[in-house]
Amino acid sequence: MRIIVHTAKCQGHARCWAQAPGIFKLDDEGSILPGDIEVAEAEQLLAFRAARSCPERALEVDHA
Ligand code: F3S
Repeated sequence: MRIIVHTAKCQGHARCWAQAPGIFKLDDEGSILPGDIEVAEAEQLLAFRAARSCPERALEVDHA
């Protein structure tokens, strides 16, 4: 599973990081770092929930 990060949509809510700090990294201003995220099998449920918690829909889940 891959998370496609839409940095332009991020408003720094940090809900992703609060749920999965090992997966979602923020910069000094609290915005998500650019670049897609490959998620290991064991962390997929956690990553999915954290991505869905973003109120700006900045984290797109790609199941392919
Ligand atoms: Fe940004 Fe959404 Fe996370 S607004 S910091 S991607 S919860």
